[in-house]
Amino acid sequence: MAARGASRTAVLVCQGRAVAHGRIAPDRFADPAAMELLRPQERIAVESARGGVAPQGWTDRMDFESMNAMAEVIAPRTVAIDDAVRDRLHPQLVILGAGLDGRAWRMPELAATDVYEVDHPASQQDKRDRCGTLRPLARSVRFVPVDLSREPLGPALAAAGHDAAQATTWIWEGVVPYLDRAEVRATAAVIAERSAPGSRLILNYQSPSAAAWFGRLVARAMAIAARRPDPFAREPRRSAWKPGAMRALLAAAGLPVSSDDDLLTLARRLHTPARHTLSLRNGRVAVADRAATSTA
Ligand SMILES: C[S@@+](CC[C@H](N)C(=O)[O-])C[C@H]1O[C@@H](n2cnc3c(N)ncnc32)[C@H](O)[C@@H]1O
Repeated sequence: MAARGASRTAVLVCQGRAVAHGRIAPDRFADPAAMELLRPQERIAVESARGGVAPQGWTDRMDFESMNAMAEVIAPRTVAIDDAVRDRLHPQLVILGAGLDGRAWRMPELAATDVYEVDHPASQQDKRDRCGTLRPLARSVRFVPVDLSREPLGPALAAAGHDAAQATTWIWEGVVPYLDRAEVRATAAVIAERSAPGSRLILNYQSPSAAAWFGRLVARAMAIAARRPDPFAREPRRSAWKPGAMRALLAAAGLPVSSDDDLLTLARRLHTPARHTLSLRNGRVAVADRAATSTA
């Protein structure tokens, strides 16, 4: 992040999950922890979107539409990542740029898994303040404060107890856009170094899109006109990756990509709402696995 301060984009995506919970693909998507992790003020727009009745005033209507759009994008992304986690459960799960991720508190499948939540120190403190009485379903949750733009990730994980000799599932969701290319490469190198045979990386990233860039500009202008805080002001986008470039980066690190789908494809597969085709087409979920034997 450009300056210290808890992530606003982490709140936005958490609001999206809270809106989607029980309303979008309820047989495949559930995040009861999302609402719990929001502050009362942040729940107002969520409740309005969940109510399903568009408000009259244009600023409230803007919040209503942006909450629904966020839910539409977040649901297929979450389902794809959850499926990839369940499909290859390991005793260690590292969540990079965890934000208000609720998996450690909502996935019973993690009962035998130690979860390491890595995040920018300010965002992580904010998460810890919000956790309140939430009880993890994971075997343990360890908080690892690291600014990926400034601090080395490997020693911080080792100090927190992460064992590089044991297989790990890595989730790197919604963070790559906020890192520059060198930071993405450096983080991928640490993931590769600390991935024992059989480890899995689940990555959500954005592909380059002029139309999506213009859409963000319009959304920003509308937020300013409505005197709403701009959630992206302190978290500018710093990198987007063509699928081929991401595939090459991960393959070179010994993590060959086995699947890489855009969110529009995932939404259509799940039959979830897909009105915001630009945003959906722009986001991707890739899975990369380290071979199960060390000779590969
Ligand atoms: C859009 S939020 C995504 C949060 C979460 N992964 C999710 O999908 O709900 C972006 C996250 O990236 C984190 N982040 C951004 N820049 C970072 C950095 N330099 N070091 C560590 N975390 C960073 C923020 O703190 C925030 O939690």
